[in-house]
Amino acid sequence: MNDRGAFITIEGIDGAGKTTCMSMVAECIVAAGIGLVQTREPGGTPLGEDLRTLLLGHRDEGMFSDAELLLMFAARAEHLAVRILPALDVGDWVLCDRFTDSTYAYQGAGRGVSEARIAALESWVQGDLCPNLTLLMDLPVTLGLERAGKRSAPDRFEHDAQAFFERVREGYLRIAREQPQRVRVVNAARPLDEVRAEITHLIDDFIEIRRHGAA
Ligand code: TYD
Repeated sequence: MNDRGAFITIEGIDGAGKTTCMSMVAECIVAAGIGLVQTREPGGTPLGEDLRTLLLGHRDEGMFSDAELLLMFAARAEHLAVRILPALDVGDWVLCDRFTDSTYAYQGAGRGVSEARIAALESWVQGDLCPNLTLLMDLPVTLGLERAGKRSAPDRFEHDAQAFFERVREGYLRIAREQPQRVRVVNAARPLDEVRAEITHLIDDFIEIRRHGAA
């Protein structure tokens, strides 16, 4: 086993089933006898959770996109310093519900913030640190919105939301195409049993590779 722990992140649009995926991944890691820290973004620390409340609370009335971006990275800087890096340093694994791919997908692809601006903050805040493995829970936007219980009346806001999440989904899929070795796309539109089987397989393989190296 490597001395340093592994960093795994779960991504996807709203309604993709990240929460269920988190518990499936955690089950596999704990069953393998590996120490695990489970956390989320924005959040994961007292300051981060306060920032989460601000970020999500002001979502409806809108927020200047650069302010939103900077708050996301402020929360991330604190999270890395007090929670993620110390855990990885002692060999624990960290499983995080969303990380910087969310920023590229939501602030970048979704809201149109320039990628260069996000990349500058990413390198400032993270240095070389990047997840070892990311599971992207992918499904059609209409199904995601339906599962998230957000499909009530097909009003103007609903159409805006649909278009926004289409851009977010495409942003995620682009990252997956560019970094196929890190990002595994899980088809989350399938029945839960099939999704569970694929996730278990992916994580068990990943544990094996970390323990014994690639075949
Ligand atoms: P999530 O944890 O999925 O909460 P919920 O259960 O309320 O959907 O995500 C919180 C929101 O934060 C989600 O809409 C995506 C957004 N987000 C960003 O826009 N950028 C980021 O960098 C992160 C980490 C999250």
